[in-house]
Amino acid sequence: MTEATPDGAVVEAVELSKCFYLEDVEVHALRGVSFSVPEGQFLAVMGPSGTGKSTLLHILSGLEPPTSGRVTIAGQLLSGLSDLELTLLRRRRIGFVFQSFHLVPTISVIENVCLPLLLDGVSRSQSRERAAALLSQVGMQHRLHHLPSQLSGGEQQRVAIARALIIRPLLILADEPTGNLDSVRGREITGLLHAVAREHRTTVIVVTHDPRVALQADRLIVLLDGKIGYDGVPVADAEALAKLLSGTVT
Ligand SMILES: Nc1ncnc2c1ncn2[C@@H]1O[C@H](COP(=O)(O)OP(=O)(O)O)[C@@H](O)[C@H]1O
Ligand SMILES: [Mg+2]
Repeated sequence: MTEATPDGAVVEAVELSKCFYLEDVEVHALRGVSFSVPEGQFLAVMGPSGTGKSTLLHILSGLEPPTSGRVTIAGQLLSGLSDLELTLLRRRRIGFVFQSFHLVPTISVIENVCLPLLLDGVSRSQSRERAAALLSQVGMQHRLHHLPSQLSGGEQQRVAIARALIIRPLLILADEPTGNLDSVRGREITGLLHAVAREHRTTVIVVTHDPRVALQADRLIVLLDGKIGYDGVPVADAEALAKLLSGTVT
């Protein structure tokens, strides 16, 4: 199955800019961001608060159009898709993981993981079989019938990762998935995300504030004031990273 563009990119962002207008004030959330992500890459995105990281993920998933520039996912230009096609792209090809887990509180763990498949018309028995296998893969096979509120934060995020994977996504977009977890749990979750993504050859873009999470990635992009300030190998040296994040090194 090859769904990348001929040069192997799953995600291609070209000169993305995003401007929000609040009354008379223009906010430039992104100012000419270009990068491409090859199939299977685990990319970390860092940057101070308000530098456009969440906006970038929204645009990559087609939830918001850029003010200018273009996004191609698996060879499909997002601006050429109808609302229905965009909805189906998100439902079938992109897995989402959020800081606050976003599990449905009133249904069990296994039902939460099944939900994306049920929404897409897959049978209950097939969905449950696949959900149970994924929950086992993320170490949650002993909690299938618990409610989300009966789980720790780290456990809820494991369930959310299983839910993101159940559609066999081409791309996982994760916005600060470890932001509500302690650092040990955060690293476990990132390690897990990395391992399952590698096994399924899923491309992952993870926004994080945790340098240790970024160090587990294949590549690091630092956003500064809506622009790419760094794009390269993850930076291990804490001082060098702090300089990059504060924009004192270019
Ligand atoms: N829907 C919106 N309307 C107006 N301004 C927004 C909206 N979303 C984000 N912004 C602004 O765009 C900038 C980037 O926001 P965001 O992408 O959320 O940053 P980050 O995720 O890096 O913290 C911020 O100044 C924010 O206030
Ligand atoms: Mg954000």
